[in-house]
Amino acid sequence: MSQVKKVHIDYMDNPLGLVTLPQLGWVISSDQKNVKQIAYLWQVSSDEKFNDILSESGWVLSDASAHVYISNLELRTGSKYFIRVKIEDNYGEISAWSDVTYFVTGLIEVNPWKASFVTGETEEDAHKSKGTYVKGCFAVNKAVKEAYVYASALGLYNLHLNGNKVGQEVLAPGWTSYHKRLLYQTYDVTDQIVMGVNAIGAHLGAGWYKGLMGLTEQRNNYGDRTAFISQVHIKYMDGSEEVILSDESWKASDSPVIFSEIYDGEIYDGRLEQKGWSKADYDCSSWQRVRKVDYDKKILFNQPGSTIREIETLLPVEIITTPKGEKVIDFGQNMAGWVEVTVEGRAGEIVELDCFEVLDAQGNVYKDNLRKAKQKLKYKCGGHGSERYKPNFTYKGFRYAQIVKYPGAYDKSNFAAHVVHSDMKRTGYFECSNPDLNQLQSNILWGLKSNFLDVPTDCPQRDERLGWTGDAQIFCRTASFLMNTHQFFAKWLKDLAADQTEEGGVTHVVPDILTGVSDDNWLLSQGTHSAAAWSDAAVINPWVLYLTYGDHQIIHDQYASMKAWVDFMTRHAKDGIWEFQLQFGDWVALDAEEGSYFGATPTDLTASAYYAYSSRLLAKMAKAIGNEADYHQYDALSEEVTKGFQKAFFNKDGSMTAMTQTAHIVALYFDLTPEAYLDQTIDGLVQLIDEKDGHLVTGFIGTPYICHALSQNGRIKEAYDLLLKEDLPSWLYQVKMGATTIWEHWDGLKEDGTMWSPGMNSFNHYAYGAIGEWLYRVVAGFEIDEEAPGYKHALIQPLFGGDLDYVDATYDSIYGPLSIRWDIKKELGVLNVTIPHNTSATITLSQAKRIVEADGLVFKLEDNVYKSPAGSGTYRIEFNLKASL
Ligand code: BGC
Repeated sequence: MSQVKKVHIDYMDNPLGLVTLPQLGWVISSDQKNVKQIAYLWQVSSDEKFNDILSESGWVLSDASAHVYISNLELRTGSKYFIRVKIEDNYGEISAWSDVTYFVTGLIEVNPWKASFVTGETEEDAHKSKGTYVKGCFAVNKAVKEAYVYASALGLYNLHLNGNKVGQEVLAPGWTSYHKRLLYQTYDVTDQIVMGVNAIGAHLGAGWYKGLMGLTEQRNNYGDRTAFISQVHIKYMDGSEEVILSDESWKASDSPVIFSEIYDGEIYDGRLEQKGWSKADYDCSSWQRVRKVDYDKKILFNQPGSTIREIETLLPVEIITTPKGEKVIDFGQNMAGWVEVTVEGRAGEIVELDCFEVLDAQGNVYKDNLRKAKQKLKYKCGGHGSERYKPNFTYKGFRYAQIVKYPGAYDKSNFAAHVVHSDMKRTGYFECSNPDLNQLQSNILWGLKSNFLDVPTDCPQRDERLGWTGDAQIFCRTASFLMNTHQFFAKWLKDLAADQTEEGGVTHVVPDILTGVSDDNWLLSQGTHSAAAWSDAAVINPWVLYLTYGDHQIIHDQYASMKAWVDFMTRHAKDGIWEFQLQFGDWVALDAEEGSYFGATPTDLTASAYYAYSSRLLAKMAKAIGNEADYHQYDALSEEVTKGFQKAFFNKDGSMTAMTQTAHIVALYFDLTPEAYLDQTIDGLVQLIDEKDGHLVTGFIGTPYICHALSQNGRIKEAYDLLLKEDLPSWLYQVKMGATTIWEHWDGLKEDGTMWSPGMNSFNHYAYGAIGEWLYRVVAGFEIDEEAPGYKHALIQPLFGGDLDYVDATYDSIYGPLSIRWDIKKELGVLNVTIPHNTSATITLSQAKRIVEADGLVFKLEDNVYKSPAGSGTYRIEFNLKASL
């Protein structure tokens, strides 16, 4: 019997703040195999009991259980819509109704913002990064049916209502290209509104908007005063409605936050606390009147999900005393977030903690790699018994916290570390028989958790933490296996598009806070946009979202941006070869000249390779949305660029002009190698690896694809050997050195405990974690069929090797969990797979020589490879890796 287990809305659970009719998708459960949906029915209601049905699809004959748009419904601001779905399956059974899910609308009207941005700061505060409270009161005299707050800020805000913080959001409104897009969040406050006088307020801080940020260490990048805006939309039981606006009747006060910035941390004076400040009866007579701040309200957009939150909490593993005598809390895991302290001190006594990532060779505190970022927590006790404090408007990248000051005795129970990142559902799991690989997998996951804070950042600790497009591009597919990144990247890609140059160039960082900021910075003087592999995030990230979720909307939304980027390259290319201003190329590759970050592979080669790749992906996406003309145009362009690449970078004898690993990797992985030279190119790559005693020397461009380039071309053993190398440079070297996240440099920490130079030595840089993609797609074997993306038809094709006894992995797709477990004992293999209902798969066992037990599936040899189609359900397949057995 089929059941509709779960309905997701625009790939989210119960989103708040939608402004367009969403797409629905659902997971079907059944005790049968080969379940297909033949029809569906959805209903939308204004009430949970479905007495008041606003729209329904009627039975629709379709196998679509995702990407189903709600229709015939006019959305209204501040409303909750309930949804349920039922289906008919291919066994003729009609399911019961699904559990009820809902979404809440954002502000639907054109120009919906009537409220004002209000500030508690003056011109004199332009160079301060302090906290302020703003607060207003309103009366409610009738029974409330529903109430929602829409809020945003210039700076950062925590929303308060009637004495309590509202919602789980922290660091709201996140970071966008604030001059072009500022996001508002939606809060359901139906249960918090009281009869009588209510108080709404916000605690404001400087954040990305006003605090010191970026490579040039500038402050006030977007403005010099924090401000808050909110509208409370109330629907009463009697059918009437009311909107309460933030306005000049509000009052403001400095908060106990003396200082707070993203890089440097926070200073908080508990003596200045105003307990109950956001309650209606709190006496605000000493507060100042707020001032209005003019800001274009047309650039306020909704953020329906993936807001930043405290996601988990780590307790100290131990408190150590270093050889120098420093007291250090070890949380056991490098991460991003903040420390919460409990303290009992006299008024004015201080708790001071410095957060940092690693201990030095002697085991002492090491902060040099933070560059100028202070990452400090400073709390002045209020003097009223046991006090708890955690920062408001900063975050830190750390595993350790040095206790610089603490009044009296303390132990582990006085500290906790909150892990903070964008709220995304975990979707991918990978485990295998090799504990070091499992640690690598954990490090990759923590790289993601530490760097997805509204913007995909390069690192969470030093004075950088920027949305470097290249890092986000190479890690996107890995991240999108591990977590549901749809909303996170869809949001960031809008900023990428907003920051594109008029000509279509894509900025190095998004949000772009580098352009036009300074002439005396070397990097900025070379150019702040359009570096290959970095800017290609404009095309590759939407492509990954399309593949992962089968979502056409993302193609439509990003289409102009992608096209503009590819056209930009065309405008600056000659004979298919392109280059432009500053190119990072194979950034931080080990074949760079001494003292340089730029790898040895020529940048016109890497740039042209990406040009061919991006134009091909654009062609594919044009085709997916039925734009045949563009499909032909960009497909032809990609062909032409490929020919140009071959002419320029292959010699007549079939060798490559650049004898680097990365040159060979991109030629192979991006399908740019002339057929006749394929074997030679593969051999060339293997030889280049051999010359380094089996090691890679690749940087940002070569590293993500090196194992793919090998395994796609029959060199499975070489790929596994590379993955499992344990000495420098390798992924497992870091693991053996005790890493709990991925490092920026292969040799960030050398064997003797000394470090790479502190100027660029992050221990939490997810970029090289892009090897995750190979673990999931190849080792576990989850491949996406481009013709049926979103895992509607999955390609299950593990490649065994590396002496692994088993791999056990699951991807929680939009159709439900897809899982693969393989066990190999000597030459005997067992594959257990679960394929979600209403999807299908093709199982390919390219290394199997004989199928012993197929569990009802029918394996056939195609070009000497065993393949079987499979419908939904769970299967157990036994096979031999040797024909004789
Ligand atoms: C960042 C990198 C980034 C690079 C650009 C660095 O400072 O940390 O990850 O992609 O600059 O070359």
